[in-house]
Amino acid sequence: MSGERTTSPRDVFRAPKGTHDILPPESRRFAAFVAAFSARADRFGYGLAVTPIFEHLEVFLRVGESTDVVTKEMYEFADKGDRRVALRPEGTASVVRAFVEHRPAEPWKVFYSAPNFRYERPQKGRYRQHWQVGAEVVGAPDPDVDLEVIDLAAGFFASLGLSRVRLKLNSMGDAESRAAYVARLRTFLEPHASSLGDDFARMLAENPLRILDSKNPAVVEVVERAPQLPEHLSPDAAAHFEEVQAGLQALGIPFELEPRLVRGFDYYTGTTFEFAAESLDAAQDAIGGGGRYDGLAAEMGGPDVSGIGFGIGIERALLACEAEGVFAAAAPPLDVFVVDKRIDTTGPEAAILLHELRLEDLRVDKASGGRSEKAQWKLAARHEARFTVVLESGAVELTVRERSTGEEHEVPRDLVVGWLYERASGSPA
Ligand code: HAM
Repeated sequence: MSGERTTSPRDVFRAPKGTHDILPPESRRFAAFVAAFSARADRFGYGLAVTPIFEHLEVFLRVGESTDVVTKEMYEFADKGDRRVALRPEGTASVVRAFVEHRPAEPWKVFYSAPNFRYERPQKGRYRQHWQVGAEVVGAPDPDVDLEVIDLAAGFFASLGLSRVRLKLNSMGDAESRAAYVARLRTFLEPHASSLGDDFARMLAENPLRILDSKNPAVVEVVERAPQLPEHLSPDAAAHFEEVQAGLQALGIPFELEPRLVRGFDYYTGTTFEFAAESLDAAQDAIGGGGRYDGLAAEMGGPDVSGIGFGIGIERALLACEAEGVFAAAAPPLDVFVVDKRIDTTGPEAAILLHELRLEDLRVDKASGGRSEKAQWKLAARHEARFTVVLESGAVELTVRERSTGEEHEVPRDLVVGWLYERASGSPA
């Protein structure tokens, strides 16, 4: 088949380039991160939204969407029924599609935790499959909602223990102010089109706002003199943005105005923001970002309602946690480890004891595979088990060693579960 690239046999059974497995013990931190976000979103009144991992291509590829994520990096393909579909590159479009389809009562407040797919050049903190937690509110245009979602995200980072995170804030204005600004920007940039290369000319034609985001030093120099977006807001958009800023100050959430902050999707209107981790490389320091997208539902054939939300890159946020030495989320010690000393280990006595202890919701484990007693004690130590129970054939009393004191107790088999439960859970006998 022409153009098909084959993977070398050596790589076939490795995770595809730009993807990674999330396995124990790292997966514990990942799960704790998602659980902490879910609990916080729940406290803010958001419900979980789970949408398909792929959508009809049009959900992402809407008229006017000219960004790299959508035009160059999307995993899109025809399925076996010849429908054009795409793996989701982000969560917002899917959530808004679900809103348009189901028309739930407004404001509709949802959160999610999901993988996203972008055919990017992989590097540390930039993957072809990455995970995000995020939140969206559809149908609430007031500035209080901007504050709520920013508070949800900013407070979440703080709750992880992150302190070196900067909140960058901008406003893209409403459709009217944005169109006026784009026209002014284009007029300002046009004289430079011939000298700044093809990419510049293409962006100038398609979406001059993207030029504000350029890393090319020659372009940056021109952009520094360009008119700035927040100076061109309509009175309504300016008043909204003022209220958001005043609200953030009142909530004690520090922010920096960043007039050249341009986010990676064309759907943004009004407030936009990004969280940058100072502990990460500047090229991949965005650990979260979001903003308003007031026309998106209408673009999908839905009602003309507002929307706002954010996405947080889980892998990147965890890299920031590592860099700051916070949110280690280490495994708690086991409550009980069972050392099996029986010569004939085929009987179910050990399984029964573990089953009974687990019925009490204790964290319990044992070694498997007929290991030596010494190896089993080693494993108990590695798990930092608070209590180790020694199981012997025919024993009426079992020896229980308490890790903190080194004390050994002889406890009748029929009382051992209650005995361990009381001590492990700290409840009085
Ligand atoms: P985004 O800025 O494209 O926004 O992605 C959100 C976050 O996901 C980024 O700040 C970053 O932490 C992480 N991220 C993005 N791409 C990658 C990648 N290739 N590898 C690793 N991490 C990555 C959105 O996706 C919007 N849906 C956010 C939003 C929600 N806006 C409104 N509501």
